[in-house]
Amino acid sequence: MTAFVNAVIRSGEADMVTKEPLELKYAAALDKWGWIELPSFKSAEGIRRLGDSLDAHGVTDIQCLRPLPKGVGRGHSFSDVFGWERFPLHTDTSFWSEPARYILMQSSSDSPTPTLLLDKRKVAGLLAQPSGARAIFRSRRKDGPIYCGLTDTTKGTPGWAIRFDPTHMVAANDAAKDFMALVNAALSDAMQFHYSGENALLIDNWTCLHGRGCVPEIDRSRVILRAYIGGRQ
Ligand SMILES: [Fe+2]
Repeated sequence: MTAFVNAVIRSGEADMVTKEPLELKYAAALDKWGWIELPSFKSAEGIRRLGDSLDAHGVTDIQCLRPLPKGVGRGHSFSDVFGWERFPLHTDTSFWSEPARYILMQSSSDSPTPTLLLDKRKVAGLLAQPSGARAIFRSRRKDGPIYCGLTDTTKGTPGWAIRFDPTHMVAANDAAKDFMALVNAALSDAMQFHYSGENALLIDNWTCLHGRGCVPEIDRSRVILRAYIGGRQ
């Protein structure tokens, strides 16, 4: 982890300058906010070490994500449904038996298209609403559809883990419809993360919601590198 020592970590509050091994700082910032910025990250050499330091083993191959117009992506993918428009807030891999724990994303070039982040504290606030506890969804999974709530506390995470993806989960009661409206309203509270230089974004996919801003014409050739850390397909 020496590549990360003495770096600045940005998260939901203030920048933190650390001279400690960053394993500790990662854990503290992720636990508090559900996401951090890694200001100088070498994907190829760093990602597996990151998985080891987060104690979330199992790292997917690095995927290359390109903005696409509607209707040409994989079925039910966000690109297929929304094209260059804004993606709604969600968690990734909701259809896995255990969704990916962390998402690492980095842009191949500076990008004006933000990743939208609703941090852990705000997500906890939504889940604490009556609709958060009562919501039932019909969820598409690899081995068939099931009915489920928003949280799954059996996966070893302390307290709760949210699973929410409006392209794979359909509201099955009024509370679920209310919760979806709450998430849409919370977009105005979402933080905009921008990719520049060698920065990368690490998201705790079990506690944080994310989305993507509209892709302006000038940015439609951007490539986002993405890898999942942890979870089970
Ligand atoms: Fe996503």
